[in-house]
Amino acid sequence: MRGFISKGLQLLLLSLTFTDTSAHSWVEQLTVIAPNGTFVGAPGYPRGNALRTSADYSDKSMTYLATDKLCKDTQQTQTQTAKSPRLQASPGAPIALRYQENGHVTLPDTQKGKPQNRGTVYVYGTTNPKEGEKLADVHKVWNRDGTGGDKRGVLLSTQNFDDGRCYQVNGGPISKSRQAQFPHPADQLMGADLWCQHDLALPANAPSGKPYTLYWVWDWPTARGADPGLPDGKQEIYTTCMDVDVTGGPQTKQLAAAKYIPDQPLNNAAIPAQFAQIMGSSGPSGPRPNPAVRYPGRTSPSVSKPPSSPSRSSPVPSKSFPPPSPRPGATVTSFVTLIRTVAPTGCAPSAAP
Ligand SMILES: *[C@@H]1O[C@H](CO)[C@@H](O)[C@H](O)[C@H]1NC(C)=O
Repeated sequence: MRGFISKGLQLLLLSLTFTDTSAHSWVEQLTVIAPNGTFVGAPGYPRGNALRTSADYSDKSMTYLATDKLCKDTQQTQTQTAKSPRLQASPGAPIALRYQENGHVTLPDTQKGKPQNRGTVYVYGTTNPKEGEKLADVHKVWNRDGTGGDKRGVLLSTQNFDDGRCYQVNGGPISKSRQAQFPHPADQLMGADLWCQHDLALPANAPSGKPYTLYWVWDWPTARGADPGLPDGKQEIYTTCMDVDVTGGPQTKQLAAAKYIPDQPLNNAAIPAQFAQIMGSSGPSGPRPNPAVRYPGRTSPSVSKPPSSPSRSSPVPSKSFPPPSPRPGATVTSFVTLIRTVAPTGCAPSAAP
């Protein structure tokens, strides 16, 4: 009974700290992934980045609800702020875009009618970005082949917002379960939270010596009929616009020999299943479509696996979300055993950290 009351109280307190406009998510950092799945080198940052450590920092300086323009006003041009340089990466390099889940993954019940995968993230790429870029000219228009819309760019990658591991530390059952299943030492960057990531490969033919632009588009709609206050549902899309300095030649040989080291420290590791997709789809022949992302089945948080027994041999449960990828692609069969069984999830709106 006491546990019940305190849980109810916790949820109440959590809900009191929510405001609909605070703490939506954006790309905080970009990092190159080594062929063994470990983050390497200096991180890069989005355009117009506001560092969390700066005195006048506020989430509002980075969150952007996109409706007309694709990029936030501070991210319209290829401009970096002090101490937030661009990522340096070779053509075809695997990179991770990291963001905080802010309760969207671990506190799923705060907003009705949101997709189970907590929304789909689309990453578009172009060598020819435009100031004033319109959401409607890019999102769900640019395609894998580069034949969509005005043909200036491509759809590079799609993933579920919930990468299956990430969590904000809070009292909700999903967070608690993930804290137990995916422990990591707190570090200065993430604190005790574990950030989410979207791993993708830059195009192998991205021209060296030039910036390559990435548009991160988190599509997080509310379904119609799920929320009495929103009978028609609603579109809700957040974006981050960023550039990578492409340098040197393609690391074809290294990437061909890529092999993810299982069970490596989580603070600096790519997501195994996403890494497998990248390695199956990039390299000498350039990017090919991502395979359909299999999403772990969702069970009630109360039946989550005991934290001490992460089963690595049983891959993902049966239920799959619709593939976020518009086309089916390569298989990831040989990597499936690397996928840890993922704790049940759900997701919700914003909890300020
Ligand atoms: C993976 O390779 C990188 C670069 O060579 C190295 O720094 C890192 O320690 C390796 N990761 C593991 C888990 O051994």
